[in-house]
Amino acid sequence: MNASPTVVVIPGDGIGPEVIDAAVRVLREVLGGELELEERRAGYRLWKEKGVTIEEDTIEACREADAVLFGACTTPEDPEAESPIVRLRRELDLYANVRPARSWPAPRPVEAEFDLVIVRENTEGLYVGCECEVHDGVTLALRKISREGARRVAEVACDLAEERDGRVTIVHKANVLKLTCGTFKRAAIEAIEARGLEWDEEYVDAAAYRLVREPDRFDVLLTSNLFGDILSDLAAGLMGSLGLAPSANVGDEHALFEPVHGSAPDIAGKGIANPLAAILSAAMMLDWLGYEEEARAIERAVEATLRDGVRTPDLGGRASTEEVTEAVLSRLREG
Ligand code: IPM
Ligand code: MN
Repeated sequence: MNASPTVVVIPGDGIGPEVIDAAVRVLREVLGGELELEERRAGYRLWKEKGVTIEEDTIEACREADAVLFGACTTPEDPEAESPIVRLRRELDLYANVRPARSWPAPRPVEAEFDLVIVRENTEGLYVGCECEVHDGVTLALRKISREGARRVAEVACDLAEERDGRVTIVHKANVLKLTCGTFKRAAIEAIEARGLEWDEEYVDAAAYRLVREPDRFDVLLTSNLFGDILSDLAAGLMGSLGLAPSANVGDEHALFEPVHGSAPDIAGKGIANPLAAILSAAMMLDWLGYEEEARAIERAVEATLRDGVRTPDLGGRASTEEVTEAVLSRLREG
């Protein structure tokens, strides 16, 4: 990686700009000027102004950057309006969405301590956006699963399982979706066994149940696009809040980092959004860029902040976005 990586920053809509501002301050704290940031627009406000949710030259800038830091965008329901994040995942071929979830020192709905990561296929499945009306009142959505798509995302799950000395759980519904989930499952097993790693499998409904009952039983979960979307919100719930859930969208050439949460228009502008998901996403970005020590320092600062009880209302606290960000920054200054 070159000395001064370039990062395209897309704050987006709603709470996106507030949490991304916090993440950028944290990045500045650990790296100083050693990062070139280029801010770009995307989302609902851009749609209102220009009739597009993301511009071509922004996609080009993302392609040229070393990484992208993304806040959250509100997608209009207009059939013409494509979700900027789904578009970026496809355009940059970000085929794996890595979504870690672990128990932090914060109130959680279940007591168990856990540390798992969901690896979600990110460019196929029901997200190919291929829907049609067969005849009046009857509609179809296509679910694309390719052997190659499953194989390459399985490799990412294997890399993580290797790092963590763990096991891959393949999550599917091959008892009903015999062809698509069957292809996913077989390609995954082949890739995992070729790497000499351990695996097991779980139907997606059973996985949801088990995640709530025994989250500590899981290590790396590998699954298709929509299942991963749903299970990662569930896993965020287990952490106590979506405000703690970061993610990395990665491919062979590019990477984009974003909190799992959306633009939350209901709390936008109130100064109470939890900035930690964005800050932890920035830490995942530093890992990717080769700044592992700085990434660990951010995670420690987040942990200390939560342990001190400096928490936003989503975690039952009274702190503002600003207070949580300041607490993380001061922990980082302490070293
Ligand atoms: C996510 C989000 C997106 C998705 C939306 C905004 C299109 O929910 O990143 O999980 O469904 O992938
Ligand atoms: Mn989601």
